[in-house]
Parts: sequence; C-alpha cells; structure tokens
Amino acid sequence: MTSVLHRSTDPAPLADLPENVRTRLQDRFKLVVPARSDSDPDPVLDHDPPSDSSVLPIVSLTDVEKTYSNGSQALTGVNLTVNPGDFLFVTGPSGSGKSTLLKLLYGYERPTGGSIRVADEPIADLRGNRLAKMRRRIGIVFQDYKLIPKRTVAENVAFVLWAQGFTRKEIHRRLWPTLKMVGLQSKAQCFPDELSGGEQQRVSIARAVVNTPPLLLADEPTGNLDADNSLQVIKILKKLNSIGITVIVTTHDEHLVRISNHPVVQIKNGRLHHLRR
Ligand SMILES: Nc1ncnc2c1ncn2[C@@H]1O[C@H](COP(=O)(O)OP(=O)(O)O)[C@@H](O)[C@H]1O
Ligand SMILES: [Mg+2]
Repeated sequence: MTSVLHRSTDPAPLADLPENVRTRLQDRFKLVVPARSDSDPDPVLDHDPPSDSSVLPIVSLTDVEKTYSNGSQALTGVNLTVNPGDFLFVTGPSGSGKSTLLKLLYGYERPTGGSIRVADEPIADLRGNRLAKMRRRIGIVFQDYKLIPKRTVAENVAFVLWAQGFTRKEIHRRLWPTLKMVGLQSKAQCFPDELSGGEQQRVSIARAVVNTPPLLLADEPTGNLDADNSLQVIKILKKLNSIGITVIVTTHDEHLVRISNHPVVQIKNGRLHHLRR
C-alpha cells in the first residue's frame, strides 16, 4: 500500500541512498530524539506557500476512467482541476470511487483512460525513483491512521524524514513544531496504543506534513472518529491549508461539509459532480 507509512516502510527510498548514508541514518534514528530548543525556527507554521504555486493547477484530471482488472468500473469521465492553495471536499456514498480518485492522485493505481497531472507531473507515467520522489511531495492520511505500533509518536513522525535522508538536525527542527501544530507535544514519547483515535489521527496528519508537501490527500480521515474529534481534525486540515498546503479530503460526513464553505465535489457511481465551487 502506498502511503506516508508505505514510504517509510517501503525499502525503496532507503535503497536509493548510498550504503554509508543509510547506515548512518539508521544509527541516528535509533537515538532518542533530542528536545527542541525554543530558538529553533518553526518550519511548519512558517511554511511558505509551495514555490510552484503559480496559476498552474496542482491537480488536473481530464476524462479519467478507472476500471479495475475484475471489471469493476470505479470512475467514469472524471474532469477535475484543483489549484494550489485550494481545499476541496470529495463526498459520495461508500463504493462511489472516492478512494480510487485519491489512489490515482498518488500513483497507487493507474487510470485506464484519460490523463492526470499532479504538481505538473504525469503521475501515472512515473516509475521507480521518479514516482518515489513525486510521492514525497504528497502527504497522505488514512481513515485507519496506519501508525507503526512499536514506535513512539515522535518516532512515527520522524521516521518519514529519516527515510527521506533528512539530517538529524533537520529532523529535530521539523519534528517539534509539527507535533505542536497537532497538539501532541506532550504525547511525543507515547506509543500509538496509548492514544485515543483522535490523537492517533493527529499523529498521522503530523507524519503526512512533516516534510511540508505542497499537497495533502486525506481519505475519510474522520471516518473512525466522533463528532468532536472529527471537527478537530478538519480544523487542523484547515490550518494546514491556511499556510499554503493544498488539501483534498474525502468524507461521507454531510455535517462536516455543511459547516464549511470550501468547494465540494460529489462522486456518484464513478461520476464526479460539482456541488459547491
Ligand atoms: N482494488 C480493487 N479491485 C477491484 N475493484 C475495486 C478495487 N478497489 C475498489 N474497487 C471498486 O471500485 C469502486 C469504488 O471503490 P472506492 O474507490 O473504494 O469507493 P469509496 O472510496 O467511495 O468507498 C467500488 O465498486 C469498489 O468495489
Ligand atoms: Mg473509500
């Protein structure tokens, strides 16, 4: 499965690194993550809008079709443009094609027709290193969090940076502001099973954005959460959006969509309709 977790457990990014660098990073990761100094800059909250935030869409789908190999037609004639800095809700009933849409955007599935560009790359045509590099520019959040059970909160988040070859100093510089942003500094040394569902989801959001990707995809991030925790998650996604990250979030929670004023598309039987622009 491709995800931020996939990136961290997938040996591919590590295999990209020279042996000596890989060993050094491995050693570093085993070390306790040092406490943050107050003088450190705040990379998350000081996040600049992505440098490619020009008029070019960050996501564009043209006449996209997706039929799975078993004949299941998940998406039909989908056209969609998402501009840098947008916040888009994707709604629709279960089985309508929401997850398929996101999977196409991060290159886990390939379309059977039409074209897709993400951050000006034809993601469906990318392979190997180019695809791995591209995926580093996309944060992904899932309904079921996908945290590493035997790693602490801090390690779950730091792991992404470590796997991508960030220096220990840079990991330190990014980790604490990111945990602060999701309100989990005090839980940094806890393990996932010591957290509530809402807290686990906030860890997974921290993990998805700690390398400041320009695009964040969240697939039913509130699906397992109660109303209060769902709202908290949406607030964090909005905060990330306000600092320049483009957010696409799927949900079948009508209430969350109603109380927001962001654009909404609905997928029904694989077809996409604009409900609110
Ligand atoms: N890997 C797969 N193989 C075959 N069919 C699939 C696969 N993934 C999803 N589908 C089918 O595609 C349709 C859309 O699924 P999905 O995108 O998961 O919908 P949603 O996320 O809206 O619930 C469904 O009919 C589902 O059964
Ligand atoms: Mg789904």
